[in-house]
Amino acid sequence: MTADKADINTLRNKIIELKKERNAIILAHNYQRPEVQDIADITGDSLELSRAAAKTNYDVIVFCGVHFMAESASILSPDKTVLLPEIGAGCPMADMVTVKGLRKTRRDLYSDVMGITFEFADDFTLLDMKKKYPGVPVVAYVNTSAAVKAESDICCTSSNVVNVVESLKEDTIICIPDRNLSSYAAKRTKKKIISWDGFCNVHHAHLDVEDVKRAKAEHPDAVLVVHPECPPEVQDMADEIASTSGMLRFCKESNHKEFIIGTEEGILHRLKKESPNKQFYVLNKEMVCPNMKRTKLESVLRALEKREHVIKVPEDIRIPAKRALDRMLEIK
Ligand code: 13P
Ligand code: SF4
Repeated sequence: MTADKADINTLRNKIIELKKERNAIILAHNYQRPEVQDIADITGDSLELSRAAAKTNYDVIVFCGVHFMAESASILSPDKTVLLPEIGAGCPMADMVTVKGLRKTRRDLYSDVMGITFEFADDFTLLDMKKKYPGVPVVAYVNTSAAVKAESDICCTSSNVVNVVESLKEDTIICIPDRNLSSYAAKRTKKKIISWDGFCNVHHAHLDVEDVKRAKAEHPDAVLVVHPECPPEVQDMADEIASTSGMLRFCKESNHKEFIIGTEEGILHRLKKESPNKQFYVLNKEMVCPNMKRTKLESVLRALEKREHVIKVPEDIRIPAKRALDRMLEIK
């Protein structure tokens, strides 16, 4: 056994022991490091992890993911202790929309996407947006803060955004914060979508049509599967567009043997594990989310030992944010 493997085993054993002692459950997003995914009780996409957090009986939830995910767990399970092992693990896209102010985002891209109005103005807040479009419901991607969810009508994830939009009686819908998820939804509904101008650095800034052409030339027999956070022109070239767990299902059930994967590279661990006889190639090697990678086995152990970092959403935000999350969870 190599020294590294011995270290990993020691850490794993300590975590398993402490997890039992603390009556804790470990949830990990599909983008987490392989060894963190392997120690988790449940690995999944945002929707699966939200559902798991809502119905767990454990006293402690260790959330191996980013800040908004731990906040969602706290919103749904207020009597549990929710721990985020790395307090600095945030989501830059979630930070692009705030109730009080908007951080500057790029304003030059894809404004010609059919059926969508993009809101660009600097210093424009979610409250300004609601004032500008009175009566228009706000659909908040789960990649938002609890405070933003509290100001929204309903949440969505990448796997249910179209169903969520369709579930609303209004014909015009505001979608925040991801312009690419908005574009994905707009192409699959007759409703008018007004979108926030946010994006994910990993899926948007590191990806273009040239990457797709290059990957397809290198792997001509491979099927292209991408996440709806990718730019619209990349989505248009894909054989399948899905959430991270949707990708896992698709690749497992497909008769094809090779896949080019357009999302954060952490998912390849589970893809290979669940379909060991198939080949997976990441669309662009730069598709690594530094925030998702902050959490290591050491962080998980420290979280359990020191009970840190506790994520607790205050009640005045939790109640309205829960309404938006519950409304989403009621939808199939
Ligand atoms: P899903 O796992 O829901 O597809 O979300 C991807 C993501 O970017 C989470 O940060
Ligand atoms: Fe946020 Fe993108 Fe990282 Fe997901 S992959 S946590 S959307 S920055």
